[in-house]
Amino acid sequence: MRASIKLYEPGYLPAVIGLLQASGDEQALERLLPVLSEKSTFVVVAEADGKLVGLAAGAVVASTAWVSGVFGPDDETVERLVEALEATLAEQGAARIFVVAGNGATLDGRGYERVEAALFERAISKVGSQSSLERLGGRTIETRVWDDLRGMDEAKEIIERRVILPLAEPDLARRHGVAQPKAIVLFGPPGTGKTTFAKGIAGRLGWPFIEVAPAEIGAEGAERQAKLLVETFDQVLAVTAAVVFVDEVEDLASVRSEDRRVNPSVTNEFMKQIPRMRDAPHHLLACATNWVSRLDPAFLRPGRFDYVLPVGPPGADARRAIWLRYISEITDEQVDVDALVAATELFTPADIEWAARTAAQRAFEREHFDAVGHRAKTEDFMAAVENAKPTLTPEMIETFRDETERFARV
Ligand SMILES: Nc1ncnc2c1ncn2[C@@H]1O[C@H](COP(=O)(O)OP(=O)(O)OP(=O)(O)O)[C@@H](O)[C@H]1O
Ligand SMILES: [Mg+2]
Repeated sequence: MRASIKLYEPGYLPAVIGLLQASGDEQALERLLPVLSEKSTFVVVAEADGKLVGLAAGAVVASTAWVSGVFGPDDETVERLVEALEATLAEQGAARIFVVAGNGATLDGRGYERVEAALFERAISKVGSQSSLERLGGRTIETRVWDDLRGMDEAKEIIERRVILPLAEPDLARRHGVAQPKAIVLFGPPGTGKTTFAKGIAGRLGWPFIEVAPAEIGAEGAERQAKLLVETFDQVLAVTAAVVFVDEVEDLASVRSEDRRVNPSVTNEFMKQIPRMRDAPHHLLACATNWVSRLDPAFLRPGRFDYVLPVGPPGADARRAIWLRYISEITDEQVDVDALVAATELFTPADIEWAARTAAQRAFEREHFDAVGHRAKTEDFMAAVENAKPTLTPEMIETFRDETERFARV
């Protein structure tokens, strides 16, 4: 049957992966997958009997185009794929087309000249396609982020043991039959450090940190949302390793649809992406929520998430450690830390940081305007604490305790 030639669409992706895997060109998948959804890449496919049987891909940079791969079941289909690709590349402004082809390839009849050239190859980075990473806003996180998380010793130790170590020491984990964690949920009140924990994990593993924002997906029209989510995860999976952070996951996975920010089809699609993430060897999905009790219980089940981890209000020792971190940055004056710890019972780490920075600002302004030359003192910190509006209430602390009992899985 004569194949029909069409323009590539994201829906072809699974078939394209299958085709590239079966192509016998070992690097085809690695080379082509990351560029498929790139704006400058153009792809045509060949379909016969409803099946994808071939493809040709090329990229245009100004007036120059590069053909990055042609795969087809027979000479005739290859010929027609090349023809269609040439037309597409020319339409995009290409005036010269370069093809890097194996020795067997015959392009002679198409007006191509064989150029004396050598083919060089260099693998640039271990962390996969830079362009997918950049497009996703992926970032490298310094290991310092983990060390700068002060106080929350219990949460830190659990995450260190259950999440970071098995991923950082895969051989040892395998030896003991310890499964690698693939997906976790962090829950707790605002400002307790959930985002910072997720970043800290990425920093410790040396994996890029990629944030997927449900609100951004929800901002799209209903019919675009599910597609955008799938495209985002396709790109995420094209990166070799990553901590993928989904903040405010209740917007995607609340049990009541009124509490979600996206179309029901997106919630289903998100559920379908979790097994894909679980199959990827160097990806960790970290979801965060302030509203764990709103999440669909099916969403939280063990097959999807390995751990459901509480990140709670800081106790007195944690507040002391957090205060000391910021105080040591801000001042060399003697500060009554006990008084600050006692006065900040309803403060989250974020509230403490804010109060500490306010005290620093006060000392800075004093020196600038009044020429009083000392750094922040206890009274500056106390004044900032008194002015602050702490996030927590006794009810929130109680709710968190209750939620930890009901939902935590560590
Ligand atoms: N244990 C900690 N020690 C020192 N600073 C901390 C700690 N936890 C959080 N912070 C600081 O508090 C701020 C808020 O933390 P973060 O954004 O991680 O909280 P969150 O739980 O994600 O909040 P939200 O629910 O609002 O998203 C950050 O600037 C972070 O550096
Ligand atoms: Mg956060």
